[in-house]
Amino acid sequence: MAFPNQRKRINRASHAIRNLVAETTLHPHDFVAPIFIQGGTDIKSEIPSMPGYFRYSLDRVMTEIQELVALGIQSVLLFIKEDDDKKDNTGAYAANPNGLMQQAIRAIKAQFPELLVMTDVALDPYSSYGHDGIVDIEKEEIVNDASVKALVKMALSHVEAGADWVAPSDMMDGRIGAIRDAFNTNGYAHKGILAFSAKYASALYGPFRDALDSAPGFGNKKTYQMDPRNRKEGINEAYLDEGEGADMLMVKPGSFYLDVVRDLSEASNLPIAVYQVSGEYAMIKAASEKGWLNEQDIMMESLIAFKRAGAKIILTYFAKEVTKHLIKNYPNS
Ligand code: PBG
Repeated sequence: MAFPNQRKRINRASHAIRNLVAETTLHPHDFVAPIFIQGGTDIKSEIPSMPGYFRYSLDRVMTEIQELVALGIQSVLLFIKEDDDKKDNTGAYAANPNGLMQQAIRAIKAQFPELLVMTDVALDPYSSYGHDGIVDIEKEEIVNDASVKALVKMALSHVEAGADWVAPSDMMDGRIGAIRDAFNTNGYAHKGILAFSAKYASALYGPFRDALDSAPGFGNKKTYQMDPRNRKEGINEAYLDEGEGADMLMVKPGSFYLDVVRDLSEASNLPIAVYQVSGEYAMIKAASEKGWLNEQDIMMESLIAFKRAGAKIILTYFAKEVTKHLIKNYPNS
């Protein structure tokens, strides 16, 4: 046999052949753009640990969403930063029909009826303790079942305001089933649930907590978010959420958890989403600002990795940047 009879470089020889054999591609439809909203008017405030990413007042966020929609991004995930006087230890304000989140949903859906609007469901923006659930302060414990009740009310208020999907990020046990039941019995059976199934207690959420001023007031989130040492537990969480009625499963953070993305994509036939979180964005931005890495190349490589690992949907702070890049470079990217 002539040496070598398999020349792998033949399939790498040009843009055209590389594109033809590429197993993984990115498209603007793959992305969900997280959006940070705050009170007030005429505010566009850069988050110091997330260069190029902003918190908007409701009036200004419309222009940003307009831009995303024009680029072909079809879906957003809304987060809000409430004023301190709205925070307590009951999560009651989270379900207020006139809260900032509910106002934002109504305003955005009114202007962009086709846009898929997802909302974050967790108590941390409303918690005086910065936790995702209700706190038993004497025991310093996050109380599961009472928190689920508050989360159900919160989720209902979002779909009542017009949200298409809710995305519970709180990691309380049983919340997906409780929200699904409440949707079914209140006329919202058609609404979607994106379960943050394998959400790890990660140090990568720091910049997000800066953005929303939501760092835990005491302790950490390790009694509800998952231990980074565990892989099978992620699969277990995913099966539970699927059984409870989730429509899509998510792994979070992304880059450090690609094994879990692969596992979930093999374990479940639901679409798998992955969240490239604030710390991942911050690392890429910081190294690029220093000139140590090429931002666009790293952005593309990090996002392709999610697809290759088995994710269908990518939540990323790069949504706008990557979409612009794809449009500019297609078909030679
Ligand atoms: C809170 C929530 C967090 C993120 C999304 N929802 C932070 C946390 O769990 O403390 C992190 C997102 C990011 O870092 O980009 N429910």
